[in-house]
Amino acid sequence: MAKDSLTVTDNRTGKTYELAIDNGCIRAMDLRQIKSGAEDFGLMAYDPAFLNTANCKSAITFIDGDKGILEYRGYPIEQLAEHSTHLEVAYLLMNGELPNKSQLEEFTASITTHTYVHENIKGFMDGFRYDAHPMSMLASTVAALSSFYPEAKNVRSKEVRRRQMIRLIAKMPTIAAFGYRHSQGLPYIYPNNDLGYVENFLTMVKSIGKQNWRSHPALVKALEILFILHADHEQNCSTTATRVVGSSEADPYSAVAAGITALYGPLHGGANEAVLRMLREIGDKKNIPEFIKKVKDKDGDKKLMGFGHRVYKNYDPRAKVIKKACDEVFEVTGKNPLLDIAVELERIALQDDYFVQRKLYPNVDFYSGLIYEAMGFPVDFFTNLFAIPRTVGWVCQFEEMISDNDQKIARPRQIFTGQRKRDYVAIEKRG
Ligand code: CMC
Repeated sequence: MAKDSLTVTDNRTGKTYELAIDNGCIRAMDLRQIKSGAEDFGLMAYDPAFLNTANCKSAITFIDGDKGILEYRGYPIEQLAEHSTHLEVAYLLMNGELPNKSQLEEFTASITTHTYVHENIKGFMDGFRYDAHPMSMLASTVAALSSFYPEAKNVRSKEVRRRQMIRLIAKMPTIAAFGYRHSQGLPYIYPNNDLGYVENFLTMVKSIGKQNWRSHPALVKALEILFILHADHEQNCSTTATRVVGSSEADPYSAVAAGITALYGPLHGGANEAVLRMLREIGDKKNIPEFIKKVKDKDGDKKLMGFGHRVYKNYDPRAKVIKKACDEVFEVTGKNPLLDIAVELERIALQDDYFVQRKLYPNVDFYSGLIYEAMGFPVDFFTNLFAIPRTVGWVCQFEEMISDNDQKIARPRQIFTGQRKRDYVAIEKRG
């Protein structure tokens, strides 16, 4: 009997099976041979929400949720946040290695030459109502990009795929900034290719009335760090959505648009928006105990937004870096008064049995919104600030999925619990 195997006895039949273990997994398809009789379809695994199912092999991002470790291609997130830039991290995630000087220059130039969007995109975005949510605008505009680049359908060509990856990373800040300007009733600002990725984005968003408007360097640096922290996070909900849509060989714009819509939800990227609303609702430190009580009583489905994670059962390493970055931002912008409530909320929650027993710690979204707000972004724009950097992760995961011979169109099974065959009843005979 092989050492790396699992022996299973089916008590319905008394038969024993040996299943290979590879990378700490058994293959779900190996269960299919286990049948109660000749007519039996074979055993399946039931795993709603993929609590214990690996959907792919991936070499991009490593997380140890118990120890609170996050690495991109082996590099600890703390080191990248301190020393790197978002575009360098994008290169790393796409290529597996950090670039040398000329590789980075070439990569930066390729991104820079794709920052403009087709003029018709402006007309398309003008069609949104003034109060359209920025995530709706972002998702639909990215989906619309597919109609501007019909070649993107050729997903079997590595070269074509690479071009769309660059376009998506390059255009995402432009589209998000146009969405912002649309909401504010301000004219769109075109990209300035002399500026860095983050500075260019901030300029497209914020510049009013001055030819050479420049963001404060400390704010550019803080957003750069936030972009690095959000660049990828292995098989989360939006990445899985991107992979699933991409598995049907839909083009990368359509797949990434699916990622954006998945990110929109308050349990995922939309949590940064929800945290700010929650802190405003609490309003004062004295109201925290009552709020925590409601959360613990599951009163009205209240949750402590920005807390808890499917994978991290320890402090989210990204939250630690963001908490530190808050100080540098607040030195420039003045302290966000909600910070005191957030810090106190964290202190109380981390001592409370409810949160301790369930291993609920602050996640990436708990402190990021405080920085975004201090930088003057409206709350409903926060999740765009997550989507822009996560585009790197989505396109890299799309690329890995499409190049993986183990992958096929995603198509889970179900356990059918409904009615079986019955005869049609004419409408006048129905009760
Ligand atoms: N506040 C209160 N209770 C919570 C929370 C929370 N934030 N998170 C989980 N729990 C409880 C949950 O009610 C359950 O309790 P019980 O055992 O009594 O039923 C227990 O903890 C286990 O939670 P779960 O819902 O089974 O955990 P999950 O892995 O399915 O959900 C989560 C993970 C992130 C969706 C959840 O923790 C949550 O809703 N957090 C708040 C939203 C949030 O901050 N999301 C951002 C996640 S990080 C950014 C990203 O990558 O998306």
